[in-house]
Amino acid sequence: MSQHACAGNSKVWFARTEQPSANAEGLVLRSPKKFRVHTRAYTDPAIFQAEMERIFAKTWVFVAHESQIPKVGDFQTSYIGLQPVIVSRGQDMQIHVMVNRCVHRGAVLCREAHGNGTEFNCPYHGWVYGLDGKLLAMSERREAGGYAEDFEAPEGLHRLPRVENYRGFIFASFNAEVPPLQQYLGRARTVIDRKLDMSPVGEIEFVSRPYVGRYQGNWKFQAENIVDEYHFMHTHKGFVQLQAKYGQTTGDFDVHKGGSAKSMRKVRFAGVTWDCVNGHGLVETPSGEIESYLTGEFADYFQGVHAQHGGETLASMTGKLTASIFPNLGLIHNQVRVWRPISPELTEVIIYPYELKGAPPAYNEGMLRSQERFYGPAGHGQADDVEIFARNQQGLAGSAVDWLILERGLDTDAQNDHGDYKGLTTSEAPQRALWREWERLMSAAQA
Ligand code: FES
Ligand SMILES: [Fe+2]
Repeated sequence: MSQHACAGNSKVWFARTEQPSANAEGLVLRSPKKFRVHTRAYTDPAIFQAEMERIFAKTWVFVAHESQIPKVGDFQTSYIGLQPVIVSRGQDMQIHVMVNRCVHRGAVLCREAHGNGTEFNCPYHGWVYGLDGKLLAMSERREAGGYAEDFEAPEGLHRLPRVENYRGFIFASFNAEVPPLQQYLGRARTVIDRKLDMSPVGEIEFVSRPYVGRYQGNWKFQAENIVDEYHFMHTHKGFVQLQAKYGQTTGDFDVHKGGSAKSMRKVRFAGVTWDCVNGHGLVETPSGEIESYLTGEFADYFQGVHAQHGGETLASMTGKLTASIFPNLGLIHNQVRVWRPISPELTEVIIYPYELKGAPPAYNEGMLRSQERFYGPAGHGQADDVEIFARNQQGLAGSAVDWLILERGLDTDAQNDHGDYKGLTTSEAPQRALWREWERLMSAAQA
């Protein structure tokens, strides 16, 4: 620790002293040369509450994937911010998204993560709802001090006004005025498209159980980090060293292509990043060696993908392709990742490894092994990252320093006609995407 850091008024070591305030004005400082975010944006409980109202209740939020609810009666529970929701498949195969809260006295209706049934029964007093959320029965309605003859029974669970599905990704919104989903996704759609087009039939399936974990830190650390190429060689140094020692022999189809740390750095620093409108951040590092895919172990499969989509797209698909889709969805490797804010300092992360429908089983299995190696409970990468998120939160708890610096690459990012900024691989462009949208939504609601 430097002398400078220890010097001065001892009050700098105290906890942050600002009064909680939902006023987000001035928490993001932007100029042509600077991009700074105030610590309070990660720590203030009033800001967290405002995020639930101004972001999670106002925009599209990913709630489930179609492959989780393929049949009539299937359901998956999820969250939009702090609000629990149920995503179900009705008798007519329609997808319904409704608030997972009994309209009687508010109990969470469905406590399972997923399942199949014909109705939802409230565990408290036994009210019954259909797969579409309609109230079907009120137990003992007229008995022993029951409801009056003319009691107006509610229709059922609160249904979300907007539900849309992009290639199996189901999003819902509490905001009836939210723009159409495809428009909202913008350039982030290219990542979904390319990931799914790796399947000969253009579909993915969630077949494995998810990895679920929590970390002691703000939800935005995960949203920022999944598209942060700058951290990899440092946070995951142990993994880089292992890779340097064992090279490709651990096998994961080049996902963590390495050999020496130097060659790993070269591969990882070769791509581009995106700061897209609506808060989505992307990383694209095309593979420079599609020939090896076209002639390798899964040649038939890759030749089929090549014939369908062409060489440039195959290079993109087989390279690194990552998205942080604002506010709660990530696509990386062969996984869909969802993060759920619980408090300013607590976040749940759910990692769903997926399979490419129609791809060779051995390829899907290899990708799953690769997931386990880096992201699984005994893996390298996720453990490194969540440790850093907790350190971030710890670092932000004191009051000595107010601002975080997010201007890496700002001078070299270039804006296109759609308003997206393209940066070099370790530019903090994808992180700035989040903060530009955060600022817009947080201050629009205040105005
Ligand atoms: S709270 Fe659900 S039936 Fe009473
Ligand atoms: Fe990481």
